[in-house]
Amino acid sequence: MRKIYIFDTTLRDGEQSPGVNLNMQEKLEIALQLERLGVDRIEAGFPAASPGDLAGVNAVARAIKNASVIGLARSREQDIDAVREALKGAQDPCLHLFLASSPIHRKYKLKMSKEQMLETADKAIRYAKKYFDKIEFSPEDAGRTELDFLCEVTAMAIRAGATVVNIPDTVGYLNPSEFGNIFKVLKENVQDIEKIQLSAHCHDDLGMATANALAAVLNGADQIEGTINGIGERAGNTSLEEVAMALETRQDFFQAKTSLVLGEIARTSRLVSKLTGMVVPGNKAIVGANAFAHESGIHQDGMLKEKTTYEIMSPEMIGLKESTLVLGKHSGRHAFREKLIDIGYELSDEQVNTAFSKFKDLADKKKEVSDEDIRALIEEKLIET
Ligand code: KIV
Ligand code: ZN
Repeated sequence: MRKIYIFDTTLRDGEQSPGVNLNMQEKLEIALQLERLGVDRIEAGFPAASPGDLAGVNAVARAIKNASVIGLARSREQDIDAVREALKGAQDPCLHLFLASSPIHRKYKLKMSKEQMLETADKAIRYAKKYFDKIEFSPEDAGRTELDFLCEVTAMAIRAGATVVNIPDTVGYLNPSEFGNIFKVLKENVQDIEKIQLSAHCHDDLGMATANALAAVLNGADQIEGTINGIGERAGNTSLEEVAMALETRQDFFQAKTSLVLGEIARTSRLVSKLTGMVVPGNKAIVGANAFAHESGIHQDGMLKEKTTYEIMSPEMIGLKESTLVLGKHSGRHAFREKLIDIGYELSDEQVNTAFSKFKDLADKKKEVSDEDIRALIEEKLIET
């Protein structure tokens, strides 16, 4: 089974979510939980952005023992020096350098020709190589870069000394077959490509970040970058919990696995949500409140007979106690009877039938019927009889 390295950027791209600002203590708390989750690499921040971010990256660098700690830098010496400073004390430091490569970014943002872009990145990687053994290089907006030029950029990065080349779909523009094809083309055409790891970094503007990351895996990517709960710029990044569970659940298809401790997923998700203030939507895959909740009578009946009828993974796998059967207007008698037993009522068939029809009346008026509602309904019924 091929190992896929997990590069977590919750503390960098995730913190770029509008309205999110983590202090040093909060960064540290999340980083320690990411270490328990077993991520291979933690991008702790962008040290040149502010003295506070530099201090936060340094606190993470000193505390983390079982993951590589990474700092982001533009392709300029002051940024690289800020990462050197921030990663002092790190067990396994790595620099993440980036420079945009797409025609739109070259023309409007950088005002650079292709040659100037190549020269600037080459110079930055060679400067950084004096201080770092591990360097990841990202051609920003690789997703909208001419494929032949992306091959040239990748070859330049390898020659200059990068150890990982990351392919960012910075604006979440590509679909899985296009994104997967980039990896195929790089693998087939770039000299010495086997000397480095290839990484995928996707954004979710069109809702395809996880699918694109998995397409990269199918085409030979060694590393996936993403965040917990999929937080990040605009619509966010690839959700790492989705990638990990997709690879775990469909090992037969992907033939690849992460080394994440899956039982830590729910706890990590809750912590990131609490400290960033970004609420996880109920229907979010894997970690949403409804991801293991069943409302309809047909589904609940199936679940009570055999869980695999309606669950492709178990909540226990990600560290949750159990699935929930939510009582609402679609629920059936089977789940209702189980709920009664659960909350301590042993009723005759006739009593269950009467209570069930009262429950249905109530369920028509409420979105969800709670244990308290059912108790009230039964007590009232018992008093009546
Ligand atoms: O989305 C992006 O292009 C980035 C780079 C800095 C890798 O986050
Ligand atoms: Zn990004």
